[in-house]
Amino acid sequence: MKKKIVFILGGSGLIGSEVTRILLEKKIYEIINLDIKKNKSQNNNEIFFKFDCNNNIDNKIKRVIKKFGVPDIFINCSYPKTRDWNKSSFKEIKYKSLNRNTKSHLISSCYLAKLIADESVKKNKKCSIVLLSSIYGLVGQDASIYRNTSIKENMAYSIIKGGIVNFTKQMASHYSRKGIRINNVCPGGVIEKHKMKLKKYRNLVKNYSSRSPIGRLAEPKEIANSIIFLSSDDSSYITGTSLIVDGGWTAI
Ligand SMILES: NC(=O)c1ccc[n+]([C@@H]2O[C@H](COP(=O)([O-])OP(=O)(O)OC[C@H]3O[C@@H](n4cnc5c(N)ncnc54)[C@H](O)[C@@H]3O)[C@@H](O)[C@H]2O)c1
Repeated sequence: MKKKIVFILGGSGLIGSEVTRILLEKKIYEIINLDIKKNKSQNNNEIFFKFDCNNNIDNKIKRVIKKFGVPDIFINCSYPKTRDWNKSSFKEIKYKSLNRNTKSHLISSCYLAKLIADESVKKNKKCSIVLLSSIYGLVGQDASIYRNTSIKENMAYSIIKGGIVNFTKQMASHYSRKGIRINNVCPGGVIEKHKMKLKKYRNLVKNYSSRSPIGRLAEPKEIANSIIFLSSDDSSYITGTSLIVDGGWTAI
C-alpha cells in the first residue's frame, strides 16, 4: 500500500514529535518534519527538512512539494516566537513585538494552510489540515495559575490562537467543496511526566491542577491522538471545527 504523505510543521517539538512517533508506529505514513531544528531524539524513519515558516514560505513550500509531493495530511505544530516572547503581558508588550509574533505565528499558520490547500486543489488531491490553537483561543487566560511563578498572561497568544479558531472556519467554508478538510485542536496545558516534579514547574503544575476539572495537565500523547484523529479519515465528516482537549478547563 502506498504510504500517506504527512507534512508536520514543528515536528521536532513537544507535541509534533509525539504525533510523529505515533504516526510512524502505524507504518502507513511517510513523515516529513518541517522544522527550524532537529529534535535530539529524532526518529530515524522520519525525513527532516529544514523549514522556517517565517521566511519565503511561498517558494519554500513549493520546493518541499516538488520534492515529496502534495501531502495527504498537513499538521502545524510549530511555535514560532521572538526572543522577547516572555514580555508579552499587557504591562510589558511593545507594538513591534506584538506585530512580529502575530506575523510569525498566526499569519504563517493561516497563509501556509492556504498554500497547501491551493496546491492540493491544483493536483486534485484531498488534503486534511490540522492547526494548533489552544484553550486560550477560546477563553481568556486565568491569572490565578501563574501565582508564585515567573509566568504572566500573554496578550499576543490570545490574538494568535483566537485567530486560528476563526480562520479554520473561514478555510472550511471556502475549501470544503474542493476536497480539503481543515480543523484545529485546542489543548489545555501539556507537560511531560518527568518534568512535572521539577522545581521550575512545581507551582504552575500545582495551580493548574487545582483549577482543572480533571485535576492535572495533559500528556503529549493525549493531544497527539486528537490531532491524529482529526487528520485521519476517521473524522471524514468533520471540518471547520475546534476539538477541545483540555480536561474540562473550558467547561467551568
Ligand atoms: N505545550 C502546550 O502546553 C500547548 C498548549 C496549547 C497549545 N499549544 C500549541 O501547540 C503547538 C505546539 O506546542 P509545543 O508545546 O509542541 O511547542 P514546542 O516549542 O515544543 O515545539 C514547537 C516547534 O516549532 C518549531 N519552530 C519554531 N519556530 C519555527 C519556525 N519559524 N519555523 C518552523 N518551525 C519552527 C520549534 O523548533 C519546535 O520544534 C503550538 O502552536 C502551541 O501554541 C501548546
